[in-house]
Amino acid sequence: LSAHFATTSAPGKIIITGEHFVVHGSYALAAAINKRATVRVSGSSGHDSEIISDGRRSSVSSEDGVFTAAKAVIRKIVAESGNRKEIFRVEISSQIPVGSGLGSSSAISVATAAALVSYLGQRRDLDRISELAHAGEKAVHGNPSGIDTAASLYGGMLLFDRKNQVRPVLVNTALKILVVFSGTTRRTAALISKVNGLRTRYPATFEHLSDASSFLSLQAAEAIAKGDLPRLGELMNLSQASLSWIGVSTSALDKLINEILHSNVYGAKLTGAGGGGSVIAVPKPERAEDILKQVSQAHKISFLTSIPQEGLRWEI
Ligand code: MEV
Repeated sequence: LSAHFATTSAPGKIIITGEHFVVHGSYALAAAINKRATVRVSGSSGHDSEIISDGRRSSVSSEDGVFTAAKAVIRKIVAESGNRKEIFRVEISSQIPVGSGLGSSSAISVATAAALVSYLGQRRDLDRISELAHAGEKAVHGNPSGIDTAASLYGGMLLFDRKNQVRPVLVNTALKILVVFSGTTRRTAALISKVNGLRTRYPATFEHLSDASSFLSLQAAEAIAKGDLPRLGELMNLSQASLSWIGVSTSALDKLINEILHSNVYGAKLTGAGGGGSVIAVPKPERAEDILKQVSQAHKISFLTSIPQEGLRWEI
């Protein structure tokens, strides 16, 4: 029984502009948030490596449909390490609500990859951790762009596209974003495939929308670099309109967004895959706490996150 252990944590994320279109090659803007997943790997005297979270446990080899992302990451690391016979336990604790569009699975994938690599005494190579985490994301989301894992791994705010991957965006203002979970969970894979269907039926139209989404994300990054919050808000409203066009908003999300737009915010939109999940807004900074108080009466999981936030952290 090995006495040593490794602990890491990684943040959830919000997509500020450009979700879905990023899957097909456009730019999107994402940021890490102040909710994290923590993973601890330690030795075990059991027969099989296992994952434990919130009182639930499952052995890494079992196909019971739980901890899918973490299992995919662990299996890949074990396979790449020549199937070492070591037995370990992986404890996951997360502050990020599952299925909320806030990157719970990417944070868990990144933190699991980093903790196990570190536990096994392998090099802490961020490119490899990114690749391993992407395997976890693929196991749950089908064809993810990689933006969620990039935001969890590197933290801060970043412009992402599939070809060039990550470009950090400087945040010059005290930026606070309001995050509101709609209460409805959804499956990212199903929404990605819905959008893909639309793209297949209307390839030329979709390409124009993708170009517009790319342009919008570049402008949003510029607005943030200049500290121009009203402009950022407006660009987010435009981004929401484009997401409605491709059918990933819902009437419940539209209603929630309208409610939020009636308080003192510069803009609001869904974030992540849509179909439920969460909404983000740019509050007027001096009103942020009041707006949060008001919104959280009806929506229990609401919070403010300041940006930037740290990415992957080696806790020990
Ligand atoms: C999910 O957070 C963002 C999507 O664009 C999917 C992806 O990029 O992998 C909907």
